[in-house]
Amino acid sequence: MINTLNNFIVLEGLDGAGTTTQLKKLKGELDKIGYNSYITNEPTSQPIGKLVRSVLSGDFKTTPLALAILYSADREDHLNNEEYGIIKQIHDNKLVISDRYFYSSLAYQGVNCNFEKVVELNKDFPHPQILIYIKTPVEVCLSRIDSRGEKKEIFEKRGFLSQVNNNYNKVLENLPKEVNLITIDGTLSIEEITTIMVKEVKKILCK
Ligand code: TMP
Repeated sequence: MINTLNNFIVLEGLDGAGTTTQLKKLKGELDKIGYNSYITNEPTSQPIGKLVRSVLSGDFKTTPLALAILYSADREDHLNNEEYGIIKQIHDNKLVISDRYFYSSLAYQGVNCNFEKVVELNKDFPHPQILIYIKTPVEVCLSRIDSRGEKKEIFEKRGFLSQVNNNYNKVLENLPKEVNLITIDGTLSIEEITTIMVKEVKKILCK
């Protein structure tokens, strides 16, 4: 039996897919109909997450495996921290919505590390009740990242993102049936994506 967490929703997608925008939209729409939702993200803003961000910005260089371990350590804290962790939020009757979770590690760290090793590092984390995947072509993501005009992070490159894309496809094909997967076309407008996402999420939550 697969371990899933009710009242836990995860958004995933390539860099530039728009998960952060949709996370806020989803919270707004669900709160309007009476849910008490709590949005969060990985890497987190806690100390381990900050260390991860310093690797992403290129300030701290380490090995792919050390980075994979840091992501999973950040996730362990994100999930189980007694003060602010996801489990605590759910116990406090929040509907938790996270921008990224361990599927990102499988897709991203799976490129430069042994895939099975990354699975092993993440195998004890519960799956969410709902996984929303914003499926966006690599080229569309790259042009959105370019148009931001910000300094690029280490993963925001064509060849790398194509491999991440392949890993996401592999991971989603093998998702346990207990997880409710919502895949949305990321080339639609922000409003269209929000409409589809909210409709599908409500259907599952109201089952
Ligand atoms: P963000 O752009 O959503 O803030 O995420 C930061 C980057 O970290 C993004 O390129 C995806 C990457 N990432 C991983 O490589 N592995 C992980 O486990 C997570 C959560 C994010």
